[in-house]
Parts: sequence; structure tokens; C-alpha cells
Amino acid sequence: MDSFLTYTSSTSRTTPPSTASYSSLISVIILSCYLFVVPIVSQKTHCRTACGDIPINYPFGIDDGCGSPYYRRLLICSETGTLELRTPSGRYPVHNISYADPHLLVTDPYMWNCQDMDHFRPTRAFSLDTSTHLSLSPQNDYLFFNCSEKDVIIEPKPIFCERFPDRCDSSCDSSSYLCRHLPECSSALRESSCCSYYPKATESLRMMLRHCTSYTSVYWRNVGTSEYDQVAEYGIRVDFDIPVTTHCLQCQDTLKGGGTCGFDPQTENFLCLCGEKNVTSYCKDYGTSGHSSAGVIAGTVTGVTAAAAIGVGAGIWFFKKVRAKAPVTCGVQTNENRLF
Ligand SMILES: *[C@@H]1O[C@H](CO)[C@@H](O)[C@H](O)[C@H]1NC(C)=O
Repeated sequence: MDSFLTYTSSTSRTTPPSTASYSSLISVIILSCYLFVVPIVSQKTHCRTACGDIPINYPFGIDDGCGSPYYRRLLICSETGTLELRTPSGRYPVHNISYADPHLLVTDPYMWNCQDMDHFRPTRAFSLDTSTHLSLSPQNDYLFFNCSEKDVIIEPKPIFCERFPDRCDSSCDSSSYLCRHLPECSSALRESSCCSYYPKATESLRMMLRHCTSYTSVYWRNVGTSEYDQVAEYGIRVDFDIPVTTHCLQCQDTLKGGGTCGFDPQTENFLCLCGEKNVTSYCKDYGTSGHSSAGVIAGTVTGVTAAAAIGVGAGIWFFKKVRAKAPVTCGVQTNENRLF
């Protein structure tokens, strides 16, 4: 730096060739830092692992090509970090995802809540696409309000039915525990009737809603180790299954490189995402032909002129050559990374 400053302040009688190549080196470094580090960063964040404070792990992905193709385009992470589940009936905020006991908790703003009391807002039935690997959890209870008594069989059911709904008939239980103890607001309903019903599918939710003014979903959240330590909360529990494949297990294996399971967005074929490359096996498999992640970089520079693309190419070559020798700190010239 000193010599460079001395040179500019002195008279330019002679131009030492070494200084010229020195400054061109600096510009190459700066160029490569701008052109190359940006693709590297975007590649590292290619599969985001969280949305807000909700972890996003396999089989889910919020970036295309991440996770399992079964769950492609189901989760959307907004710029403000709120996660939403996309279903045929709309987009619903996701509150939590559990991977140990695989389920998502979603809320439906169109469902009845305590503030509504007897003033029912227009509602619509929550639905899930049955072709996905998502299903309504049997741990949900649905409460229907102000149902038409001529269309819906409303009758009190014995305790036995409350515990084993699948062994009881399909009437709507007017004496259910939840109707008598609405979570958070036990006395919110004054005039309207309430009954609890266990639909077998989302289609039957829709059928019920034709004859009832509103409904809500309550799920039982485990709070202790025993299955009886549960509290009722508003929300919809959606179960998912985690597709286990040997490909993905090998890819995630830390001894084999600890990659991220993903897929090719064009073909939906499995890919192991290894940061600097995507392979069809696992990250530390040097034998087979993995294909490099040129696609990722190409995607990042889409729209840039050909000249800039060539510049990136030169930057990659430059970066690889430098990295082979020493750790490089962008913009700082040390003896280790001096090339010319
Ligand atoms: C209850 O349902 C009936 C139709 O079955 C409707 O006329 C009435 O307005 C509903 N009550 C409320 C509070 O929405």
C-alpha cells in the first residue's frame, strides 16, 4: 500500500510494469469478489433451513429443489418470515412443525374463535389435497355451531363415543366435553347450539358446513409424557409422513458428507445438495459422476449479459486457482495469493 501511494504522488516519468500488473491484479480480485462471492452466498442459502423461528427440514423445503418432491410448493415463506401452508381451500399460517411426531399446526382465520361469540362470520371448510402426503390428524376435534336440526342428527353421545368416535355412528354430539368447555372462553356461546363431530375426510367437513353456520377445529396438544396430559387448543393438526429413502439417508449421513436431500426441479429426480455441487449419490462419493451446480450459478446470473457471464467464468477460474493455494481474503493482497 505504501509503495502504491508513493508511486501516485511521485512524477510519472516511468511506469514500472510491475505496478501496472499489480493494480490490474487488484481489479481482478475486486471483480472476482463482486462477481463470484455473490453466487457462492446465494448458493449456500439455496435451501433455507428456517422460516421465522420454524425449522424447515426434510421432507419440507421452502426453496424449489429442496426436500422431497412430495411436498413441493406446499410451504411458502413470506419476506417477513411467516410460513404458510398452501391447500386447495387457501393459504393458512403455520404455527409449528414437529418432525419427531410428524405434524404441522395451522390456524384457519376463517374458523370461529372466542371473539366471534354468537356473531358468526362467513366461513369456509378447510381442505387438503388428497394427492399429497398430508392428512387431517385424528387428534383434531371439530365443533359445529348453529346446525340445522332437520339436516344434521344432533344428539348427546355416551362417553364411550367421545373416546372411540370411529366405533360410534355419525351424529353430531351435543353433549361433548369441548362444547361444554370451549377452550379459553367456556361461556362464549349464549344462544347458539354446539355439537362435536369427527369427520372421516375433509369432504365431510364441507358437507357439515352446508347445514351449520360456523365451525372450529380444536386439537389436543401433548404437554406431558402421558397421553392424558393434553390441552385443547384452537387449530388444525395436519399429519405428514417422512419418505425414507436410502438415497436420502446416505446423503444426510455426516460420514458421507452430510448433504441436504433435494431434487432436480425439472425431473423431480433425487439430488444430494452438497453446497458447492449437487450429486446423485452423496457428497463424499468421489467415484461417480456428479454434476456440478453450474445450474445454480447460471440461475443466479440469468439476465446478465454474456460479457458478465464470461467475467464470472474467469472469476471462477481465478478463485479456484487462488483457493488451491491459500485462504483468500477478498480485497487483501498477501504474499500467499499473489499470482502474477
Ligand atoms: C342459525 O342458523 C339459521 C339457519 O339455520 C340462521 O337463520 C340464523 O341466522 C343462524 N344464527 C346465527 C346467530 O347466525
